Amino acid sequence: MKKIFSLALAAAMSLSLVACGGGGNTSTPAASNPAASNPAASNPAVSTPSTGDGTLKVGFAQVGHESDWRTASTKSAQDVFSAANGYELSFVDCDNDSAKQLEAVRSFIQQGMDYIIIDPIVATGWDTVLTECDEAGIPVIIIDRTVDDSDKYVAWVGSDFKVEGLACGEWLKAYAADKGIGEINALVIEGSVGASATIGRTDGFKEIAEREGWTILDSQSGDFTEAGGQEVMESFCQSYKGQFNVVICQNDNEAAGAMTAMDQAGITYGVGGDVILVSFDANKPYVQMVCDGKINANFECNPMAAPTVSEIIQALEKGETPEKEVYVSEHWFAAEDNVTSITVNGEAQEVIHATQEVVDGRPY
Ligand code: AHR
Repeated sequence: MKKIFSLALAAAMSLSLVACGGGGNTSTPAASNPAASNPAASNPAVSTPSTGDGTLKVGFAQVGHESDWRTASTKSAQDVFSAANGYELSFVDCDNDSAKQLEAVRSFIQQGMDYIIIDPIVATGWDTVLTECDEAGIPVIIIDRTVDDSDKYVAWVGSDFKVEGLACGEWLKAYAADKGIGEINALVIEGSVGASATIGRTDGFKEIAEREGWTILDSQSGDFTEAGGQEVMESFCQSYKGQFNVVICQNDNEAAGAMTAMDQAGITYGVGGDVILVSFDANKPYVQMVCDGKINANFECNPMAAPTVSEIIQALEKGETPEKEVYVSEHWFAAEDNVTSITVNGEAQEVIHATQEVVDGRPY
């Protein structure tokens, strides 16, 4: 079904979570998904313990603190899983270290958490520890990035990263066509190696690039950090100066670093610049940069999974079985109004012109 969001609706949907699909999407947490793959979700013998006073003990193994997006995600979890809301939150910043993240999950098991939330740094290497959670009867909820080698979790709440990458490619195609740009020579600053956010965005953009016959001159990890984005862009500027007209940064912090490197190299970017600059995340300060014409387009990654996770926990507490996959709603922003809609996976999606009013309405 074709779906074009109005501006007002788009702004409202940034805060709400609605029924599932591809980009611009989500589903309600409690429904009829069988818990066959997750005994902890269905077996009363392994149902959740609790503190006795009704407070639910929740352990959250967070990726780290690499980006503005991550800060928003952490704040959202700390706000939602508060004592006032009936939770006792044990939060571990895993500092982008997979071994530390596995250790944090095992420590949550030992501490007898009622629920464990994981934002997986990498997509693989999870089956053993998730089996341990399952055997301990502790339901696990995955947020943001995916686990690709185990289904031993109750639910996942996050983004369709491939759709984000496809949307970026479709926007670039439409934008270049409107501007009469015949040749695309792109540089990609990827996110952290092995993260599903990186894999999905890379695959999605690459699919469109291959279909359109674009050249991807180089693609290197900037580790989702500003320093990483700057370092990669500095090396790109040395190796490819004068050869590229598009820079794709897989998150806002990398885009900030890339801008610094291009400033130093005397390369202009954004509206009217030498280079079309694209980012992902759409944190408020970076939607402002879209509005200001420094970034040409920005593809949202919604960090507000925690309210839905809380709904899932409350549903589990009532003995309900949640949906296994819940997609958060996401929107696409552009500095100019020449591309107002793109088709992604056969679905029309709005590209929002990032006016000051739009920026001011952004929740994070
Ligand atoms: O997993 C989400 C990604 O991780 C965000 O795009 C990035 O900013 C963060 O570090």
